[in-house]
Amino acid sequence: MTETTKQTRTITDAEMAQQRAYTEQIAAWNRLYAEEHGSPRRCYVQTFGCQQNEADSERLAGMAEAMGYAAAVSADDADLILINTCAVREHAEERALSITGQFKHLKEKKPELIIGICGCMVSQETRKERIKHSYPYVSFLFGTSMLYRMPEILYRYLHEHKRQFFLDAGDAGNIAEGIPVRRVSDKQAWVSIMYGCNNFCTYCIVPYVRGRERSRRPELILEEIRGLIAEGYREFTLLGQNVNSYGRDLEDDIDFPDLLGQICALEGDFKVHFMTSHPKDASRKLIDVMAANEKAAKHFHLPLQSGSDRVLTAMNRRYTIAQYLDILTYMREKMPDITVTSDIIVGFPTETEAEFEETLDAVRAARCDQLFTFIYSPRTGTPAAGMEQLPDDVKGARMTRLLAVQNEIMLEKNRACIGREYRILVEGVSRGDKSMYAGRTEGGKLVHFPADEALSLTGRVVNVKITAAETYNLWAELI
Ligand code: 5AD
Ligand code: SF4
Repeated sequence: MTETTKQTRTITDAEMAQQRAYTEQIAAWNRLYAEEHGSPRRCYVQTFGCQQNEADSERLAGMAEAMGYAAAVSADDADLILINTCAVREHAEERALSITGQFKHLKEKKPELIIGICGCMVSQETRKERIKHSYPYVSFLFGTSMLYRMPEILYRYLHEHKRQFFLDAGDAGNIAEGIPVRRVSDKQAWVSIMYGCNNFCTYCIVPYVRGRERSRRPELILEEIRGLIAEGYREFTLLGQNVNSYGRDLEDDIDFPDLLGQICALEGDFKVHFMTSHPKDASRKLIDVMAANEKAAKHFHLPLQSGSDRVLTAMNRRYTIAQYLDILTYMREKMPDITVTSDIIVGFPTETEAEFEETLDAVRAARCDQLFTFIYSPRTGTPAAGMEQLPDDVKGARMTRLLAVQNEIMLEKNRACIGREYRILVEGVSRGDKSMYAGRTEGGKLVHFPADEALSLTGRVVNVKITAAETYNLWAELI
């Protein structure tokens, strides 16, 4: 495929065919192994971070399967371990490095074990060097835009008996179509519609590790979703760092609301979610398309980050709190039942007590159904890392206060759901109590309800009526 877009390089058919040839070669070796040993080699994928990484891990698992690796239940059981890392906060990086450290003893027990690390963390020069030198038992590293070359990287490692480092410069923009995927769920599917980010919020590492924005061709997205509907999938989440910029890099005259409308027009019983949206680009047109389409899930994740205009400017967010609240008002006018979720960063460098209070006021005004709250974590190479930092105890205390405000709002909002009816996708039987099922509303609220396990409701869509509410849980009965 050699589609031309303004900036994006689509990996050609010939390049993908090369990867399939590497895949075949490894699959042949793995078939021999399975015949000799009576059981196949196995691959374990360990994922950190966001939904984009979950989607990438399903591609890693898909490629491994095509290469003849069966799925391993745990790392102990694997011949190939792939660690898909996140770089958004330091904590995620520390966990990935710590787990890599723990895998050392597996390698000592089983020297032929292959360990590879990929994802956002390794796309940073300093991390790459640290892993290269401090974790010599790691067989290969590859960056996010090298994902489609995993078969080649593994082949080279096996063939050349040498560690491999396939790292992109970060700004390298490409799109690879046709990578095999092994999905975790048979009802819910991630669908990447674009990659990368151009916004350069001053705290964020993503634009440096995932490169510039690039959109997939609309007809390929529609074809993928059509195929998934035919396979029985009922929930799709369209993924991108900033889905509202979808199409800006394509020659075609298409934007995100157009794409969403076209997806909702496909035949079948399904719901479409999307994430993430940037408030500066969340248009009334998008809200109108959501309101007009029953298949658009009534859920909007709209990260606010801070309630202070001064801090928003320092973050390079390019909207004001008044503009943010206007979007929410319009959304709620058009879709009174909409669930709104948001992200807040606490303790951004230079944030004053008064500015933090403004965030609390904004949270009270926005009344989101759920907040994902993060303590600011300095990321090397981003502008905010060079600003004056706040002490950890100040950041921690502000986080505690923010959570108290939001918990109160969530409890009130959940209590207001009592007596109302919801359509939920059943996730499974509760671990602790086999007579209870758990599922989620369109907006992602967790709902528990009693029903006989023999009804096999997992993966099905059911209607329930809410009977009781807590801060993080709703209780319901089947109707
Ligand atoms: N520190 C803390 N939180 C961050 N996020 C992004 N970068 C940082 C950082 N350096 C948060 C933002 C974003 C979410 C995915 O992660 O709130 O929306
Ligand atoms: Fe990071 Fe901002 Fe891009 Fe989101 S929009 S990925 S927060 S730079």
